[in-house]
Amino acid sequence: MHSTLFTAALPLVAGAAAPDFELAQRDGRRVRLSELRGQPVILAFYPADWDPARADQLAHFNGLVSQVPGIDAELLGISRDGMWCDLAFAGGAERVPLLADLDPGGSVAASYGVHGGQAMFVVDARGIVAWSHVGPAGSSPSSSELVAALSALAPRADSTAARIPTRREFVATALAAACALTLAPHLARAEPLARSLSAPPPPDVAATRVTLRVNGRTLTLDLEPRVTLADALREYAGLTGTKKGCDHGQCGACTVHVDGRRQLSCLTFAAMHQGHEITTVEGLAQGESLHPMQAAFIKHDGFQCGYCTSGQLMSATALLKEPCGAADADVRECMSGNLCRCGAYDGIVAAIQDVRRSA
Ligand code: FES
Ligand code: FES
Repeated sequence: MHSTLFTAALPLVAGAAAPDFELAQRDGRRVRLSELRGQPVILAFYPADWDPARADQLAHFNGLVSQVPGIDAELLGISRDGMWCDLAFAGGAERVPLLADLDPGGSVAASYGVHGGQAMFVVDARGIVAWSHVGPAGSSPSSSELVAALSALAPRADSTAARIPTRREFVATALAAACALTLAPHLARAEPLARSLSAPPPPDVAATRVTLRVNGRTLTLDLEPRVTLADALREYAGLTGTKKGCDHGQCGACTVHVDGRRQLSCLTFAAMHQGHEITTVEGLAQGESLHPMQAAFIKHDGFQCGYCTSGQLMSATALLKEPCGAADADVRECMSGNLCRCGAYDGIVAAIQDVRRSA
């Protein structure tokens, strides 16, 4: 995210003056951080893949906002627009800058002592760092730390009671929540990774000899019982025509035939298929002659990138022997377990209908 400097400054801590830098606005008017004095500002150095349009991230955003004392606002919508973030809520919208888009070279981050990690800085209305969090990728401040920092920003009517922040202060609060939000997905991803790195290795499971009939050949493989048919075909038998898309039975990319019927190979163990006749996409063609369904896919542009195509072909050829209705809609229904990110569905249906008509 940010370049590493040869002379790495330490991260700024509370009490330090926030270095000034130039922000950019979509209409080309340039403003500096110092021009925002008089209101709290939250600076975030965050991964570039934050997408506030994602429902789960927006829910996290709203959750954080709702924790801030004195603010009872439900965020209705949020969209990222270049270097600015539009926060839309009841009664109006506010536009706030997103620093990551403004610091592609990392020099601003470096001036805050951030060198490739994730960080948040709460800068008070005088331009002084009031709170900071700097950590490696995947680290995140706790919600309570964040709430405490935000609460401290709100001007107080007297020395003991906090008053409700104004709209302007709310914007700063909302931005802070957005910044924290950017860390959350990484935290979620980092947690299982950390667990997997620290967890003891699983006990050794003895491999057993498994004999499979694949495309008319007998294969003898030494496999642990937990090896799926998809992995056995791809990783042990070298038959990589069978694809893995989701590995969870949702996309159909791994479809093969077992005794002539379609089967999601990611959802079944190889050891369960001894004695079965397995056919993969490599077994469809006869020598140099393509299977009619393969030829029809080419004729009707039934693919684009081709990643889903082996699974589509295996389902389509199995469908020829299934009680599928005659209409295109029936074919779509029968093929609904095979997803195509390229959207080549029209060509796929046309190819299948072509083969069915000529059968
Ligand atoms: Fe098997 Fe997606 S990889 S269904
Ligand atoms: Fe690309 Fe189907 S052709 S996913």
